[in-house]
Parts: sequence; C-alpha cells; structure tokens
Amino acid sequence: KQQYYTEKYRPQYHFSPEKNWMNDPNGMVFYEGEYHLFYQYHPHGTTWGPMHWGHAVSKDLVSWEHLPIGLAPDEHGMIFSGSAIVDWNDSSGFFEGKSGLVAIFTHADTYPETNRARQRQSLAYSKDHGRTWIKYVGNPVLQEEYISDFRDPKVFWHGETNRWVMVVASGQSIRIYTSRNITSWEFASEFGEEEGSHQGVWECPDLFELPVDKDPNQKKWVLFVSIGDDPSLPEGSRTQYFTGEFDGKTFVNDNSPETVLWIDHGRDNYAGVSWSDVPNKDGRRIYIGWMSNWRYANVTPTKEWRSALTLPRVVELQSTEEGIRLVQKPVQEMQCLRVDHKSFQKEEVKPGANLLENVKSNTFEIIAEFELTKATEFGFKVCKGANEETIVGYDVKNQRVFVDRSHSGEAAFHNAFAGKHESKLVPENNKITLHIFVDQSSVEVFGNQGQVVITDLIFPSEEHKEIELYVKEGDVILQSLEFYTLKSTWR
Ligand code: FRU
Repeated sequence: KQQYYTEKYRPQYHFSPEKNWMNDPNGMVFYEGEYHLFYQYHPHGTTWGPMHWGHAVSKDLVSWEHLPIGLAPDEHGMIFSGSAIVDWNDSSGFFEGKSGLVAIFTHADTYPETNRARQRQSLAYSKDHGRTWIKYVGNPVLQEEYISDFRDPKVFWHGETNRWVMVVASGQSIRIYTSRNITSWEFASEFGEEEGSHQGVWECPDLFELPVDKDPNQKKWVLFVSIGDDPSLPEGSRTQYFTGEFDGKTFVNDNSPETVLWIDHGRDNYAGVSWSDVPNKDGRRIYIGWMSNWRYANVTPTKEWRSALTLPRVVELQSTEEGIRLVQKPVQEMQCLRVDHKSFQKEEVKPGANLLENVKSNTFEIIAEFELTKATEFGFKVCKGANEETIVGYDVKNQRVFVDRSHSGEAAFHNAFAGKHESKLVPENNKITLHIFVDQSSVEVFGNQGQVVITDLIFPSEEHKEIELYVKEGDVILQSLEFYTLKSTWR
C-alpha cells in the first residue's frame, strides 16, 4: 500500500496542493479543534491564473486534509489574499447570535471605463466550519478609488479599544482601518512610506503583539510586510518585519526608518502571515509562508502541482545587542514525524571523515551543536548524488551560516535559481547550533535557536540520499547531533 508521495519533487511533509498552482497562504484561523489553511489557488493550471481560495484543514498542523475550493471568483472579480477570523460574539450579525468564521479578502478586477486595476476588500462567512461560504451581499466593504495596489487585508480583534483592526497593503505603505462590526471600516492611519525596504510593491501585511524574552510584562508589536519582486535586485520577493508600538490605530516603528529586518535569509519564504484565534492558553503565534519566489515561481520543475508552504513556525521576540529581534522555530508538532533516530555525542570531527556515512535519507531533520576549534568551515552536504549536493554550512571566520544550492540539481529553469544564500550568525559561548529540515525539494535551516533562518527550494534530480558531515582545515567538536528520518504525511 502506498504510504508516501511518488511524484518527483513532491514534498513528503510540507503542505502542497493536490494539483495545480498555489501561491500565498490565506485565511489561517483555528476554530473548534481545526487549523484552517486557505491558499491562493488556480484550479485550472500549474501557473498563476484567476485566483480562488483553496482549502485544507488539520488537527495538528502536520497532516492536512484537502477540502473543496473555499472561495471562487464572482461578479466583483478574482479572490486575492486575505485573512479569516472567528466572530465569537456575532459582531457582524451573520451568525444569529452564535459564532462563526468570517473571511476578509481582496476582490480584484478592473475599472470598466479605464481598465485600470481595481482592488477592493470584501467578506464571506461560513456557518459550517468553513465547509461552505456565503459572500456578503454588501461587498465590497472597503475601497479607495485612487489606490490601485490595495490588497491582502489581515484582520484581528484589538481588546483594549474594543474594535476590529484591518491592515491592508497599499502600494508602498500599510493602511490601518478599524471597525465594530466587520462590515463598515473607518480609516485610522498609514504606515511605512519612509520606513524599511521599498524595493518592490508592499503586500501581505500582518500585525500582532508578542512578549519580549517571554516576559508578559514587556510586549511589542510585530508588523510583517512582504515586498514583491523587483527585477533590478537579485533576491526577488521577500518579507521584512518591523517591531514597535500599536495603540489600536497607529503603528510606531521602534527602529530607525532605514533599518531593514528580514524574516528569512533564503530565497523561498514569501507572503507569510499568522494564524488567528490560536487558543490563549497556548499563547503561540504561528505563521506559515509560501515556499517560493515570484522571480521563478511559475517555472519551477514540477508537473502536476506547483509550490509548497514552509513548515508552520512559532515566532517569538528576543532582545539582542542590536535590538529586539524575531526568532522562529518549527512547531513542536513536527516531532510526531520522527521515525528513526541516530544520536552522536562529543565527537571530534576531522577533515575527510564522514560521521553520517551510513545514514541515507532525503526527508530528515538534524539538530547539531558544534563547538568551534580549528575548522574554518563545517556543515552538511545533503541530497548528495553523483554530481549534486546542497551545502548547509558555517563559515567560521566570517561568522556566516549559509545554504549553497549552486549544484543542488535542476536549476536551468531560471538563471536566478542557483546560488549561495547566507546570513551573519554569531557563536554563543563559542557554539553554533544548526536545526535543519530537508524534504524532497526544500531545505530549512534554523541557526542558534531560530535567530537566523534560511529557507531554500532545491530540485535534486538524481538519486540523492547521501549525507556528509564535513569540516575544512582542522577539526570541530560536535557536542551533539540528533538525526531523525521524517515520515510522509501522505494520506
Ligand atoms: C502576493 C500576492 C498578493 C495578492 C496575491 C495574488 O504574493 O501578489 O499581494 O493578493 O499574491 O495571487
């Protein structure tokens, strides 16, 4: 009996659509025991096309059940990105005094007279746990005639001011609106014209509050802003974040306007936003991103489907010498995929030896702690075939963690794909930890408890199960290494 995906490059434990094209994750909400995941979906092809919301649900964020399409285009246009919330107290009046789900999304079409792009915010609601959706008769509920890029509403409840808040991307800024009933919205403020990176159109904002260093008395607001692909830069589309204060109406950036903070240093984590209504007792802020890049998303070498999502990740804030920074970790639920365990302790790793010689896998997790000694570089060569490998390494002198996918396999589909992506990572007590997830077509690296993340797609085309622990020009001390084969979430 089949227990895993058989298609070439199909991720075994990352979410991918059953067939056809997917981009941004949308409308993530937890409601009565289920995590909902919607996503930008083109059901009639493997490239971007008229957008629908695809739908899946999960009880554990690990294995997903595909459901029929949630939202399809209508007389107001295509269904672009957006969010969903639980309307607990029926403030919308949609639910006869009970609770239910409301989706807030962008309707995208063109002005009939001029053919100029028109993007307006609309609602749909569900009384049956997201299985069927009713479009609100008063759609659209929010439009600004003069703004053509006006999309991706993220809505949340702001307890202190007793209002719903919506953040919407509008060209080179974020506009913030408030509402008491989800159907009528009032402009509150605008953020960002002069702050952060403006190397592409602003998209997919998210705004939420987090404790700093797990201290509930010290909190900050985090604003995610994705920025679209600009052909003049190598990176393509990527996501930045801001930290600051929010009073229910206005976001004030803590950092200087020219500070730019990236959530990921790889190329394939875009349009990420967080789950709404995750229970308070849980207290986690969980987000998921689209594991691709607009630069080449439409031409990646898969057949039946195109694109996958990152692992769901918990985000936290940590104070550092440079200021308050985001850290991310894979949700701990992923641990249920571990099927095979190998463990190493206090090994002196020397050039030329490969501790993982007998380990073969292409869907696995590694947690390794290294103590720096003489080596100038060390790390793992994963998905190794005769002529292919992906390197997850640490460059000791320059204090940089990197993923090198220059020779990772198929790359000719786009000239921007091959390459090495890196970030500064400072040792702590002379130690570096690397937490790595490898799936059939991706690598995610969490450096030093998630202070730095690199997410990259790879397309190893050969038989590629070899793993090498390598070190250059001297030894390094491996304090510990846990290796787990991860099973497929195929169902
Ligand atoms: C981001 C994005 C959104 C838009 C959607 C369209 O990747 O461009 O701004 O709503 O994709 O599919």
